[in-house]
Amino acid sequence: MNVTQNVPLQPYNSFGIVAKAHSLVRIRSEEDAKTAQQDLKNCPEGHCVLGGGSNLVITGDVKPRVLKVEISGKRLVTETDKAWIVEVGAGENWHECVTWTLDQGFPGLENMALIPGSVGASPVQNIGAYGVELQDRFDSLDALDLLTGQVFSLNAAQCAFGYRDSIFKHASSGPNGLGLAGRALILRVRFALPKLWKPVLGYLDLERKMAETGIAQPSARQIYDWVCEIRRHKLPDPKVLGNAGSFFKNPTVTPEQCADIIARDPKVVHYPMPDGTIKLAAGWLIDACGWKGKSVGNAAVYEKQALVLVNRGGATGGEVVTLAKAIQTSVYERFGIRLEPEPVVI
Ligand code: EPU
Repeated sequence: MNVTQNVPLQPYNSFGIVAKAHSLVRIRSEEDAKTAQQDLKNCPEGHCVLGGGSNLVITGDVKPRVLKVEISGKRLVTETDKAWIVEVGAGENWHECVTWTLDQGFPGLENMALIPGSVGASPVQNIGAYGVELQDRFDSLDALDLLTGQVFSLNAAQCAFGYRDSIFKHASSGPNGLGLAGRALILRVRFALPKLWKPVLGYLDLERKMAETGIAQPSARQIYDWVCEIRRHKLPDPKVLGNAGSFFKNPTVTPEQCADIIARDPKVVHYPMPDGTIKLAAGWLIDACGWKGKSVGNAAVYEKQALVLVNRGGATGGEVVTLAKAIQTSVYERFGIRLEPEPVVI
């Protein structure tokens, strides 16, 4: 097992925050994961699992042992009448995984192109973009139970996916006691990629691309190219300007709350949900409070998309958290809505 001490974490978090891991283990196989699990007994300071580091705010040197998942591999496992089942190692880069599936002729992940992060982190967040969420293409996954050392598999229902949510974000001491936060180390993920593929185009930005290009029936590759263009235009590249994608979830409110907000702010961007609630665009709420371009130290609100906080260079995790709290307070004071952060703060 390869344990190293005092490892700089700046290259491993997309915010580019400078911090060190007191100890870090690289996990490149299921065997490595089992050995690391055994060794946690000698780690009174606990552990945390690091994937692509794209959903993380580090507020200081990390004392718990960092388990850095680097398991690779991409393969077609089987095919049914309806789908290709593809298995990808948890340490693979998400966007490279999307590109590879399309290169193989398996469509379905194209709307989620360019989402930063690793394949192992994708079910944790139930990542999503442009009308498709991971759960729509998920088959199953294998994970190691860090408490017992057993490898187990979960299907979609067992992952309890919700909007940017899953069983992996809930503590085992939660209301239903079933959460796996801190307990599961995801080893590999299987996707079911549809043979009867239909493009998902309901999203405004994609409709604009269709109108601009006159392409009414785009291929999966065309949608992939459009999504890459849209994201490159709207969202900062973490390699250039550190960030963790959307910093807050889009909140849901009751129709009554929404009507109340519309009465005061008729332009509020809102989407009715199938369950009768209304989703509001957090980016719009933050923008309406005048936050674009504002900063705390070197942490700032991105000029082109208020939902994204960026590191202008040398920002600390504390500055990011202070800025996020100030945004939450101002949105609460104006709209009565509590924004919930997406990234994990450690
Ligand atoms: N808006 C503003 N001002 C802003 C930002 C947004 O008025 O500063 C308005 C936009 O004009 C638009 C609406 O808010 O009408 C929604 O904005 P956008 O279409 O950019 O999407 P979003 O709700 O901000 C979500 C996801 C993104 C995903 C996009 C596309 C969440 C928290 N974010 O963003 O996911 O890429 O939709 O599907 O659900 C991520 O999670 O890291 C992420 C980037």
